[in-house]
Amino acid sequence: MPRENPRNILVTSALPYANGSIHIGHLVEYIQTDIWVRFQKLQGNSCFYVCADDAHGTPIMLRAQNEGITPEELIAEVAKEHKADFNDFFIDFDNYHSTHSEENRELATEIYTRLRDRGYITTRTIEQAYDPEKEMFLPDRFIKGSCPKCGAEDQYGDNCEACGATYSTTELKNAVSAVSGAKPVNRESEHYFFKLPEFEEMLKQWTHEGHLQEEVASKLNEWFAPEGTDEDGAGLQEWDISRDAPYFGFRIPDTEDKYFYVWLDAPIGYMASFKNLCDKSEIDFDTFWSSDSDAELYHFIGKDIIYFHALFWPAMLHGAGFRTPTAINAHGFLTVNGEKMSKSRGTFIKARTWLDHLNPEALRYYFAAKLGHGIEDLDLNLDDFRARVNSDLVGKVVNIASRCAGFISKRFDGQLSAECSEKELYQDFVAQGESIAQHYEERDFGRAIREIMALADRANRYIDEKKPWVLAKEDNKEQEVQDACSVGLNLFRALMTYLKPVLPQMAQEVESFLNAGELSWDALQQPLEGSTINKFKPLIRRVEEKDTDALVEDSKESLQAVTITPAIETKQKSSSNTISEAIEPIAEEIQFDDFAKLDLRVARIEKAAPVEGADRLLQLTLDLGGEKKNVFAGIKSAYSAEDLRGKLTVMVANLAPRKMRFGLSEGMVLAAGPGGEDLFILHPDKGAKPGMRIK
Ligand code: MSP
Ligand code: ZN
Repeated sequence: MPRENPRNILVTSALPYANGSIHIGHLVEYIQTDIWVRFQKLQGNSCFYVCADDAHGTPIMLRAQNEGITPEELIAEVAKEHKADFNDFFIDFDNYHSTHSEENRELATEIYTRLRDRGYITTRTIEQAYDPEKEMFLPDRFIKGSCPKCGAEDQYGDNCEACGATYSTTELKNAVSAVSGAKPVNRESEHYFFKLPEFEEMLKQWTHEGHLQEEVASKLNEWFAPEGTDEDGAGLQEWDISRDAPYFGFRIPDTEDKYFYVWLDAPIGYMASFKNLCDKSEIDFDTFWSSDSDAELYHFIGKDIIYFHALFWPAMLHGAGFRTPTAINAHGFLTVNGEKMSKSRGTFIKARTWLDHLNPEALRYYFAAKLGHGIEDLDLNLDDFRARVNSDLVGKVVNIASRCAGFISKRFDGQLSAECSEKELYQDFVAQGESIAQHYEERDFGRAIREIMALADRANRYIDEKKPWVLAKEDNKEQEVQDACSVGLNLFRALMTYLKPVLPQMAQEVESFLNAGELSWDALQQPLEGSTINKFKPLIRRVEEKDTDALVEDSKESLQAVTITPAIETKQKSSSNTISEAIEPIAEEIQFDDFAKLDLRVARIEKAAPVEGADRLLQLTLDLGGEKKNVFAGIKSAYSAEDLRGKLTVMVANLAPRKMRFGLSEGMVLAAGPGGEDLFILHPDKGAKPGMRIK
């Protein structure tokens, strides 16, 4: 069946931040996109898949400073790691670039200049928190203080982890800069704004023209001014696109010390990566990006960044005279075992840790089986994962080949029957390809997988009925044995063709096993008849409980690896829509004298008890080898009182006592991690005795 008019398609996944590792949450997106792209290519369409590291912004600048390297060095290191992770999960980008690239600088400058010349940029002086010691403006996530509502200490930015209140950073009590510890002051500075309100009409229309999923489109309605209102403040707001130096990014043309906000040049990074690909191949950039382009453009993203992709981005493109996206394909968030990924539970699983213990294609298969076209969250339940992979891939699909291949190899020298003896059954399998293709096209991968597995059940039933292992023992049944096994292998070939977008590596091994060219929907039109197969090798092994246990164990953050001041790391996103520069702040360098002032002691947790009226606190009685201290520790979200009783830990023993609402706190226990349930108290090694001083 030759395809008429192959489509011209450009596909992107969101650009991962260059300051953290790829984890299995990210992989939902890259696997989803990769499956879709592989499917398009298999259909004979011309399809390009580009991505890049998102390399700009304050977190990356500060993390590089913290590590004593340049941002360029940091992003080069991270790019290497990201590329290796993607490669090993068979994410097959046609190009992987960086937003810190010449192509992106040129395109960002061009788009900005066009917008400015068309009157879509304005400037205005705003007041912002400023760190007078570090001499920089502070993003919300870099300011900490006490919650104005419940008084919980050490809260970052604009929401309280203890009571859930949201507020503006200026309302935080006793606010300090998380970068230097200095008290922030308010300072004025001129900022550049993109006049988003000018695009309100255009966006109202665009968001309801089939470019977005329905639930996304209706959610975006909240941002528009209701019909008939034209009061100030209703509807879309101007978007602040500048940041003051010091900032790691591109300088705004005709300014001394203003930089593009990372989210301005990030989506332009899609174009830049594609430009970079065009420049090293024969592909024509304008065919895909000019305002009258009839190529298709798809952005796959998580639901947390819809606002940027469905409002700012189309407005920017439209305003600068480029085409707008064909569709934004948003997906939901990953939970593990029904809960947010958690470092203490060992479910914050990095791509590399997965690869150390498990087959990447097993995860691709599981995600495919769970993905639909909507934005619901999806859950990786590790017990269900094992059961699913073992029953579907090992028990159903591969089983067909292993049951049939041996007979063909041993008795028929690898040769299949000259004619397919079950034309009708085979045709059913081929015909089903159409609806499976439709499901792939619509990103209903779960439905595609269900149909494929129903076919696998049919194939197994066929073999069960024919019983080649019985026939093989009877006289004059040679032809029947060969026919049944040949049919079995032809059905297996159809199944593996349909699974090829999901299991590219396994499909490749099957191609060399079947020895009859590449698997594709088109090739299936013709069954294998009279051709010779190669020896069958096991294609996948069962997933055992010990494998997933080891994965979880290895994902629990090891205490050796944790420093007392956590280095910046990408904070796991929640399913909310908050737009924040999610990172962990860092501490300044201190002198030895400062360190020597700390009296760190081994302590035995003699008593631990919840505190009435305090969600986060445990009251600890710490035994320092005779001397007792009373300490209120904000670790209840990570530990229960029973967990702690009798354990050894490390405390700061010479901290001035503080009066709290619940009593006097006479010290602090040392803990590491971003907070909430991802918090670890430190345990000294065996042999340590209460009261010992840590030096
Ligand atoms: N750098 C921005 C995107 C810029 S695109 C012009 C960013 N980076 S990210 O590294 O935080 O996330 C990359 C993608 O992974 C996003 O689409 C995000 O939604 C997705 N995911 C991150 N964590 C995820 C889960 N736990 N589950 C599913 N998707 C997740 O945002
Ligand atoms: Zn609070």
